[in-house]
Amino acid sequence: MASSFGAAQVLVASNRGPVSYAVADDGSLRSRRGGGGLVSGLSAIGPESGALWVCSALSDGDREAVRRGVGEDGVRMLDIPADVHADAYNGIANSVLWFVHHMLYQTPLEPVFDAEFRRQWASYETYNRAFAEALAEEAAEGAAVLVQDYHLTLVPGMLRELRPDLRIGHFSHTPWAPPEYFAMLPDDIARQVLRGMLGADRLGFLTRRWADAFTACCERFAGGLGDTRIGVHGLGADADFLRARSHEADVDERMAALREEIGEGRRTIVRVDRTELSKNIVRGLLAYRQLLDDRPEWRERVVHVAFAYPSRQDLAVYRDYTAEVQRLAEEINERYGTPGWRPVVLHVKDDFARSLAAYRLADVALVNPIRDGMNLVAKEVPVVSDAGCALVLSREAGAHEELGEDAITVNPYDVVQTAEALHEALSMRPEDRTERGKRLAAAATALPPARWFLDQLEALRG
Ligand code: F6P
Repeated sequence: MASSFGAAQVLVASNRGPVSYAVADDGSLRSRRGGGGLVSGLSAIGPESGALWVCSALSDGDREAVRRGVGEDGVRMLDIPADVHADAYNGIANSVLWFVHHMLYQTPLEPVFDAEFRRQWASYETYNRAFAEALAEEAAEGAAVLVQDYHLTLVPGMLRELRPDLRIGHFSHTPWAPPEYFAMLPDDIARQVLRGMLGADRLGFLTRRWADAFTACCERFAGGLGDTRIGVHGLGADADFLRARSHEADVDERMAALREEIGEGRRTIVRVDRTELSKNIVRGLLAYRQLLDDRPEWRERVVHVAFAYPSRQDLAVYRDYTAEVQRLAEEINERYGTPGWRPVVLHVKDDFARSLAAYRLADVALVNPIRDGMNLVAKEVPVVSDAGCALVLSREAGAHEELGEDAITVNPYDVVQTAEALHEALSMRPEDRTERGKRLAAAATALPPARWFLDQLEALRG
């Protein structure tokens, strides 16, 4: 009898896939490949490994590609209806689960779990079920499935019911909320999320802190972990890729342009973020303003290079946050700027080559998130910076567990302390900076993406 199972031996599932499509003016489809840890991790197992990446269509171009049967080998894009996807992605994943895990609510007014929330939750279930069914269909007997992130918390439990033979893993790229904050979710929803996750054989987190928070939530709301194992895999920077890519010609061009904007002989405080509400860009600017007030000797001698790239622009609160970043940067430039010195150089248009150029020029890297799963920028800048940079790092970033010893640690809410940390970083003796920079780069690259991925796969199969 022919097996009704699929052929894939290793499956990855995530909301955003490795490729996206756009319909060009002539009606043809243009594809674009993305980057990131998962893309390079998966490439480590090679094209002959029988791997399949299941992801969602995110745009009209993606949906058109699915309908025309256009696709890449090794990728299956799910044509989830746009309204269902919007409820699941914007409504639940980004506006509820993201906020809970990053503890971002302004609680006097939000969240409100009303009938509209329940309607969106039903879409989140539908969206998770579409993934579970596709994975069940594609997986070979006993295959390993690696499910990613808060978008897909229900998939492990749903998939376990459909295919008890599979090895199911789930990895969280975000923090996990402590039980007191997680308790904000309606009781049945909290239980459903935890039980969905506990459908996995093994759950991966970026740091011990987030793994412990998850365990504590399970003890309080789900009667413990049961048979599910927990692992910590601290994704590191991809040193080989970054070092090679940051010396290509387009990066050199961007460096020349940035040097013009910065001006001769000035120090740089660099930050590069996707403008997520957790990144704390506004308080970073407030701290820089404080530095210029408290330590006027830095005026004219330093520039804050801040790249704040758009993210999740369907959400008004993200658009408003970007507008506030722009407003404050302008205010600082108007108040302190002189004819030859622009204190803040802000760019909001995504440009990877320019980010690498800024990394290379960085004297100080400012990474001050309110809360962050890892924060790869904290790991990338020390690897790429030409002269070795000083790192001002929030104690609430996952990366702090690995880099804290050689960084200057800040409480992300304390702008006076952050200003003082910037001063300390700018004043660091060159030999200290070089030594610390080397140790930061070594710690940052301890677990490259390929090893990070393979470790999870081996642990799941073991
Ligand atoms: O910032 C990290 C993160 O939250 C990851 O957990 C996730 O993979 C990614 O962002 C999702 O971003 P987007 O909403 O742009 O797909």
